[in-house]
Amino acid sequence: MKNKVAVITGGASGIGKSLCYRYGRAGYKICIGDIEEPALTKTVDDLTVEGIVAYGYTLDVSKDSSMEKFTESILEDVGPPGIICLNAGVGAGGPIDATEIKDWEWILAVNLWGVIYGVKNFLPVLKEENDGHIVFTSSIAGHLSYPGMGPYNASKHAVLTIAETLYFELEQMESNVGVSALCPGLVRTGILDSNRNRQEKYRVPALQQEEQEDDRKELIEEIYANSLSPDVVADLVFEAVEAKKFYIFTDKAHHDHMRIRHQRIETASNPSLDGDLIDHITTGINEREN
Ligand SMILES: NC(=O)c1ccc[n+]([C@@H]2O[C@H](COP(=O)([O-])OP(=O)(O)OC[C@H]3O[C@@H](n4cnc5c(N)ncnc54)[C@H](O)[C@@H]3O)[C@@H](O)[C@H]2O)c1
Repeated sequence: MKNKVAVITGGASGIGKSLCYRYGRAGYKICIGDIEEPALTKTVDDLTVEGIVAYGYTLDVSKDSSMEKFTESILEDVGPPGIICLNAGVGAGGPIDATEIKDWEWILAVNLWGVIYGVKNFLPVLKEENDGHIVFTSSIAGHLSYPGMGPYNASKHAVLTIAETLYFELEQMESNVGVSALCPGLVRTGILDSNRNRQEKYRVPALQQEEQEDDRKELIEEIYANSLSPDVVADLVFEAVEAKKFYIFTDKAHHDHMRIRHQRIETASNPSLDGDLIDHITTGINEREN
């Protein structure tokens, strides 16, 4: 990597924060863009204490103007980056017939448009350098269609196909710029508390009810009980980028489901929940990918 600068959207929490530490410890300068300002400031301070050179920028990935400003500021303050982690993301649950249009708009604005704006602004910089790597954060939900996660599944399937398309296009151009798609299973982060960053224009009345639920914390603890640490995910990303690997999986437990899905598509058989599809996401059986 020519330019040892890593850009991480959504770097103030969870997987993004672990990526900041992983790349920072490897000698990269870190540029974080995040919407949650107190967490952003704290992350930059924490990294600085570790001796990592870190810059924090307030960013709303769902706005092209914000992404443009983020890119320009990095070029001015630090120079051209080498690693771009398009990681910022949000989630909300519920069956499709109970999903509000504002839920769709919010999740697609952040998870899908955030990635589109990220590519639009950073890809020309990497192409100009003919060097660097973009890590697209999809999910295992980019390969499977979990009930109760319609907008999230849609956003992550879209991110996966954008990453694959770009991979092919860069190959056709014989570019040195690399692409990976990160497809984690359940990871212990702030994702189940995503509403903390829901912009005013995407808020729905049902949220107030959710925010008042006393037992939500307990449920989150239960879901996270066996889930993966974000630090493990950051290690997997680092190793995969070094090895120029496209697919980055964290859980072998999901591979059977992907294989069954692909077989059903090949034979034009109807989709099926295949028994324990749901259990796998909630129990988070994490066998580290070799
Ligand atoms: N945690 C999991 O189980 C899991 C599994 C698969 C994929 N992912 C994906 O990993 C990525 C990181 O999520 P996480 O699990 O670490 O959650 P997290 O909530 O801990 O971190 C997400 C970060 O994105 C930031 N963010 C949210 N909206 C933003 C916006 N509009 N602009 C800029 N920043 C914004 C948040 O402030 C936060 O710092 C997401 O794309 C998520 O979909 C997570």
